[in-house]
Amino acid sequence: MSPLGRSIADPGRLTSGRVGLRVVRPSDAAQLQALLQRNREWLQRWEATHPSGRSIVPGSVPMRPTVKLLRRQLKSGSGIPFVVLLDGVVVGQLSVSEVSGGALQSAQIGYWVSEHVAGHGVTPTAVALVIDYLFGGLGLHRVEICIRPENRASLRVVEKLGLRYEGLRESYIHIDGAWRDHESYAVTREEAGAGMLARLLGEA
Ligand SMILES: CC(C)(COP(=O)(O)OP(=O)(O)OC[C@H]1O[C@@H](n2cnc3c(N)ncnc32)[C@H](O)[C@@H]1OP(=O)(O)O)[C@@H](O)C(=O)NCCC(=O)NCCS
Repeated sequence: MSPLGRSIADPGRLTSGRVGLRVVRPSDAAQLQALLQRNREWLQRWEATHPSGRSIVPGSVPMRPTVKLLRRQLKSGSGIPFVVLLDGVVVGQLSVSEVSGGALQSAQIGYWVSEHVAGHGVTPTAVALVIDYLFGGLGLHRVEICIRPENRASLRVVEKLGLRYEGLRESYIHIDGAWRDHESYAVTREEAGAGMLARLLGEA
């Protein structure tokens, strides 16, 4: 049974200025693989790993089967695997996961962008677009982002968006080979008011 009791419909393209998002496609596989290889060092410290030690190094295996698996999340209603676009070119990924229905109606967001586009505000815009879709389009109530305390760049993303700090989750996620503490940030639909994009652009 899917968490929301249904599949998640493809949201189509979400855009603001030069930044866009859409669900990952099999035709993105080569570009994603090239990006993951090029950004291996950039991403490694923040990469989820399997406690058994059986993790796959990102970019080291063909991406097409991975993309197919990711796209199944829509059908099972468990998540949304977006690619992040800058001027229409794939520059990263944003994943909506841990979708919960029932009395929770919530989800988590994770993200990365290629080092060559870092620092241009791509991720805050992408996250704002997706949160607005999750509240307005999918009808969720709460979105959470969990970040390692050492990840200054990612902490800046949630600061820019004005997410509410909820506290430290100790040994929460297995990252880069060990259980790591994470700072939890969240926003509810009521808190988002006129929307996260409007808030980011200073219109709310
Ligand atoms: C965290 C991340 C997604 C931020 O994305 P982004 O699109 O660069 O976000 P922003 O442009 O808002 O930059 C955020 C902060 O990154 C830092 N930053 C900027 N350029 C940078 C660069 N070239 N290298 C490292 N950090 C940089 C700055 O502190 C910036 O804050 P500022 O705008 O107040 O100066 C990106 O750094 C990334 O993909 N990192 C590796 C993977 C990762 O950490 N994922 C998140 C796990 S929770």
